[in-house]
Amino acid sequence: MADRGFTPTQLAARAAYLLRGNDLGTMTSAAPRLYPHMWSWDAAFVSVGLAPLSVERAVVELDTLLSAQWKNGMIPHIVFANGVDGYFPGPARWETQSLAAHAPSDVHTSGITQPPVHAIAVQRILDHSRRHGRSTRAVAEEFLDRRWADLVRWHRWLANARDIDGNGRIALFHGWESGMDNSPRWDASYANVMAGAVPPYLRQDLAVVTDTSQRPSNGEYDRYLWLVEEMKQVRYDDTQLETAMSFAVEDVFVSAVFSMACQVLAEIGEEHARPRSDVRELYGWAERFRQGVIATTDSRSGAAKDFDLRSGRWIGTETLAMFSPLLCGGLDRDAERALIRTFEGPKFCGHPDLRYAVPPSTSPVSGDFRSREYWRGPVWPVMTWLFSWAFARRGWAEKAHLLKSEGLRQASDGSFAEYYEPFTGAPLGSMQQSWTAAAVLDWLG
Ligand code: GLC
Repeated sequence: MADRGFTPTQLAARAAYLLRGNDLGTMTSAAPRLYPHMWSWDAAFVSVGLAPLSVERAVVELDTLLSAQWKNGMIPHIVFANGVDGYFPGPARWETQSLAAHAPSDVHTSGITQPPVHAIAVQRILDHSRRHGRSTRAVAEEFLDRRWADLVRWHRWLANARDIDGNGRIALFHGWESGMDNSPRWDASYANVMAGAVPPYLRQDLAVVTDTSQRPSNGEYDRYLWLVEEMKQVRYDDTQLETAMSFAVEDVFVSAVFSMACQVLAEIGEEHARPRSDVRELYGWAERFRQGVIATTDSRSGAAKDFDLRSGRWIGTETLAMFSPLLCGGLDRDAERALIRTFEGPKFCGHPDLRYAVPPSTSPVSGDFRSREYWRGPVWPVMTWLFSWAFARRGWAEKAHLLKSEGLRQASDGSFAEYYEPFTGAPLGSMQQSWTAAAVLDWLG
């Protein structure tokens, strides 16, 4: 039976309207109520969605984000909108301007980072600009000239400051840095965090999402905030985080995204005659992090693992992170086939009870699975988009197309939810989430 829902034309119009509504001028809020500021990887996906509407506006989005880049090269995970409250932890809790030597002085940011998907947005902007006249092309190319060095600095910071063992894997010091904030991937690592005294606080997320089962618990929130206190104690100094933080993991998914982003940026650099030394460095990182990802994999199943630097243990949860090698490549043929079978099979997209054949954040057959809980089971449309984009890049056109058509069927309810219940398709979390609309716009563009 066909899903009742909006037609593609109606859906695209609604998605564009949504992004317009969330536009604060020079940044798009991640969502109007729950996330009223700019988030780093959201901003990249939002630019992907803006590019078919207006290359110029997509460029503004990335410019705003890059204007908040730290002097050490880090792109912070939140850029706070001027004069907007309604989110905790806000600037007063992070205190980056007064504590962190590298934080920008003219804009408030958080003190941690998020997955490096930005090169993908740059590529989509350049792609779309080619379909336009000379003036739009010039906007995109001028952007690349202006921001190339910043983009390379961002990648260099990740490769240097965050590959602490030099093994081609990115270390994270807060679960929020993974973008999959409440994933079971981090449960064991968080269990070892002994939260000290956290200054009092009032959660604002629960005022928006009133069904508490969809959000992290208070105990979890205490730990999240304790880690912020630990960072503040060392004034967000990169060289001290490694020893100061009671949470430290090597994130295989972020490492794969980074490898892929380095590859994309290197190709852009080559095509646009950027300095050869930059291009060479980027290709080098793409390969080093690809190998770093592959080194975590099981030789038969191809599944990748995170690593807990504190306990010295591998993390074997069954989540989207298992599929990291499908993003960056590098597995041998048999292992890759096996991993694709798992992705498409009953543990993930092919689970017989799924409403749509899109990957749930955690496998429905895993003991960690919770169908409505934050990153513990629901489907994130933007993750479906990322896999379909990566599959297309890898030359798997049919697989990419299937994810796209299933993702669009899911989105045709027009709620543009942050995430969806995998079996019923019920929209959950925040509604009118910018990156969900952006994914739809790219798919329909
Ligand atoms: C949540 C997500 C994170 C996202 C943010 C804004 O914190 O876990 O990945 O960037 O919301 O959408």
